[in-house]
Amino acid sequence: MQQVFTLQELWQALAALPAPLGLVPTMGYLHLGHLSLVQRARQECASVAVSIFVNPTQFGANEDLSKYPRNLQRDLQMLKETGAHLVWTPSPEELYPAGYQTWVTVEEISRPLEGAMRPGHFRGVATVVAKLFNATRPARAYFGQKDAQQVAVLRQMTRDLSYPTEIIICPTLREADGLAMSSRNVYLTPAQRAAAPVLYRALQAAALAHQNGERRAEALREQVRAALRAEPQVRLQYVSCADYDTLQELETVQGKALLSLAAYAGETRLIDNFVLGD
Ligand code: PAJ
Repeated sequence: MQQVFTLQELWQALAALPAPLGLVPTMGYLHLGHLSLVQRARQECASVAVSIFVNPTQFGANEDLSKYPRNLQRDLQMLKETGAHLVWTPSPEELYPAGYQTWVTVEEISRPLEGAMRPGHFRGVATVVAKLFNATRPARAYFGQKDAQQVAVLRQMTRDLSYPTEIIICPTLREADGLAMSSRNVYLTPAQRAAAPVLYRALQAAALAHQNGERRAEALREQVRAALRAEPQVRLQYVSCADYDTLQELETVQGKALLSLAAYAGETRLIDNFVLGD
């Protein structure tokens, strides 16, 4: 496994790798969820590149950029063991040189849900992923369903900007108690960690109601709210039951829907989602 830093080094290394190339973009502090994307890419692509870059432009002013967890040596070891061929760890100056002024804005699909709670977040995500695609020209790029709206935004961007890259969506990996794996889970105190699987149980309860025939979106949202009310360590920020493709809120669930939520455990913001009617 080779590690490269600059764009020049990256291009040189890519020229020596057999096609097709699979790209797994990450912000590091890797867990099994990230590694599941790398494994999938290994199965489907001759070469696998992983980027590790804590992208400053997708963090809001009050968010956790400066304290975002990092452990590059551990990440490199995990990626080596998982069989990645190339790891790109650019510096912020490499991707955002002084005087930087070009942005990718995916309009409608970026507005609701996470976009409403985190203004500018998806502009930062779309911009950096466009830059990663431009730099690596992957045949396929791998993303987790855990960040459902991110996937929707990036699919739209890929179509709209005519990238020749196939977006592959991989299932959410969970801890044994159902908590979705996330780099941010390390922020949780033991009591918050014990309480956090309530997000999964809330989604499960609503999914079960849907399976049993409940089609009123508000009744499904209320199932989630009720489950969260029972857990004082966790404060719900929003719950959404939206059309899977447009992310517009539904009155009645017909076909594929995205049931998603954001909640705080102390200062730590957690998100999770289920796809209904898949
Ligand atoms: P990061 O949070 O590091 O996640 C990298 C990729 O891993 C994303 O596609 C994310 O959806 C996926 N992932 C995270 N947790 C997962 C889980 N429990 N199961 C499966 N996949 C999971 O998402 C980002 O970084 C950034 O926004 C990025 C796309 C790299 C742009 O900066």
